Amino acid sequence: MCGIIGITSNKPVSSAIINSLRKLEYRGYDSAGIATIDNGFINEIKSEGRVDNLEKNLVTKSLKGTLGIGHVRWATHGIPNTVNAHPHSSETVSVVHNGIIENSTILKKLLIKKGHKFKSQTDTEVIVHLITEYLKENNLKDTIIKVLKQLHGSFALGIIFKDQSDLIVGARRGSPLAVGYGPNENYLGSDSYALKSMTNKISYLDDGEFCLLKKNNVEFFNENGIKVNKKVLHVSSQEENYEKGDFKHFMAKEIEEQPITIKNCVKEYIDNINNEINIYNIPWKFDNISSVVLIGCGTAYHSCLMAKYWFEELTSLNVSTDIASEFRYRKNRFKEDTLYIFVSQSGETADTYAALDLCNKNKMKTCSIVNVIESSIARDANFVLPIHCGPEVGVASTKAFLGQMLVLYIFILKISSLTNDLDKKNLTNKIKDLKLLPKLVQETLLTEDKIRMSADTFSEAKGSMFLGRGFSYPIALEGALKLKELSYVHAEGYPAGEMKHGPLALIEDGMPVVVLAPRDNYYKKTISNMQEVIARGAKVLLITNKSTDEVVSENIWQTIEVENSNYDLIPFLLTIPLQKLAYYSALKKGYDIDKPRNLAKSVTVE
Ligand code: G6P
Repeated sequence: MCGIIGITSNKPVSSAIINSLRKLEYRGYDSAGIATIDNGFINEIKSEGRVDNLEKNLVTKSLKGTLGIGHVRWATHGIPNTVNAHPHSSETVSVVHNGIIENSTILKKLLIKKGHKFKSQTDTEVIVHLITEYLKENNLKDTIIKVLKQLHGSFALGIIFKDQSDLIVGARRGSPLAVGYGPNENYLGSDSYALKSMTNKISYLDDGEFCLLKKNNVEFFNENGIKVNKKVLHVSSQEENYEKGDFKHFMAKEIEEQPITIKNCVKEYIDNINNEINIYNIPWKFDNISSVVLIGCGTAYHSCLMAKYWFEELTSLNVSTDIASEFRYRKNRFKEDTLYIFVSQSGETADTYAALDLCNKNKMKTCSIVNVIESSIARDANFVLPIHCGPEVGVASTKAFLGQMLVLYIFILKISSLTNDLDKKNLTNKIKDLKLLPKLVQETLLTEDKIRMSADTFSEAKGSMFLGRGFSYPIALEGALKLKELSYVHAEGYPAGEMKHGPLALIEDGMPVVVLAPRDNYYKKTISNMQEVIARGAKVLLITNKSTDEVVSENIWQTIEVENSNYDLIPFLLTIPLQKLAYYSALKKGYDIDKPRNLAKSVTVE
């Protein structure tokens, strides 16, 4: 993962680099570092942990220079400590890197034979030594071309040189990289978001390209060093000022603001007066589509799985889901009648992007559902549907999950009307129900107290299970993911009917188990499965929807009732207590809720 920033200017750059690094922390927060060129010397400061630590270091050791690069790291090779933090430098060159150099071990051996001494355990350091080596006999541009050809794997690079006080080299293969244009200064960044406070004029490097970036001029080249022209795009200049406000954590805020984010999204996609869906200009005809494949990672994958159930319920299309890291390397038989939908909050997840790229290269129909509209996945899909939920800072996704499900659901309704699977009357009823969703989410947020009590038990457990059937199964997976991400408690999501095929062996006295059993078609079956785990000693937290019928079962430890709605929409409501369960379990343990250990918000390495 990792985030890259580079600035060349006619004024000192270190504090602007720090500001951008803060924006990039969603890509990694194991360590941070900065290097500048000052009077023909490379100066660098690196710190373990957050950008805050780096900034404290900068106060004691000021870094001069009008050109510099910065980095936030998510460790791939080598533990997250100061030595392994980027930039990595020799006397002549300093490098920041996002991605993985797959042939680093072989290159390292060759370089060691030539007398190079390595300081870190990273794959990145080979780039530093390779450049140093090639510079002995080549000019700078040829060095870059030759070095890039030596590297296998994926990367975005920022490179500076001790004797170049106005030059940053940027290079991209696989991992995204943007260039920003300012007044008498230019920028390199992992994405436009990192550059937004400085400029809204952006160009993106394409795969295999590199650039020579000076404060008044940027040149782009392909992998063979042939000059390429670049479009300058004007991205939204609105810097979203997103603060925690009175909340203790961004996650708490992001959970609570879901009624608003859902309302905003419904407003974007639903014509309130005519109860119609505002999705136009779809670039394909559904007469020519018979299958849909939904692809994502992590929470986004769970929203894909949820969509599969809705697709099957509401349309006659064949639907399958895939985890992006699996899809991209499997033998895929691409067919013209298939629509590929990619779901990603950040729009930068490396595996999801690679899966999209693969489909584009095979001339497939591609659609993306993203939160970050200027992202790579949004830019490169044939058709984009934004989720309109505003920035999500908490690493564990909450409001974006609901946003993804919402846009998928609305899109599915639209498709089912185009394919005539759903008649006008049913469609209108479903749209009317949808408009009530923000209020139902708001009311479900009030289940707070009971969840807090249950969270104590979950936070102390050795392990836990989340069970659901049908529409509730993807939500069970998401609930388990949230708990493990935040409170580091082992949690498994399972289809309730599968328990007897193995997982039941894990149930022991006092083990907390969440059972999702709304009063839908699966209700009775799920309640039977619940009884089977209770009989084996599980402490069951039952989450169901409000109803006049009482739950007929004994020995349920806790019951939480979410609001009532049509079956399609119950998954949104079931999600709320699960988000809070994970939040309060982590809070009880005093963990870093917005930045859980070992994770990152945007996973830009495969
Ligand atoms: C990371 C995040 C998850 C997210 C996943 C996919 O693992 O921590 O919350 O679901 O990436 O991210 P995307 O941006 O593609 O939705």
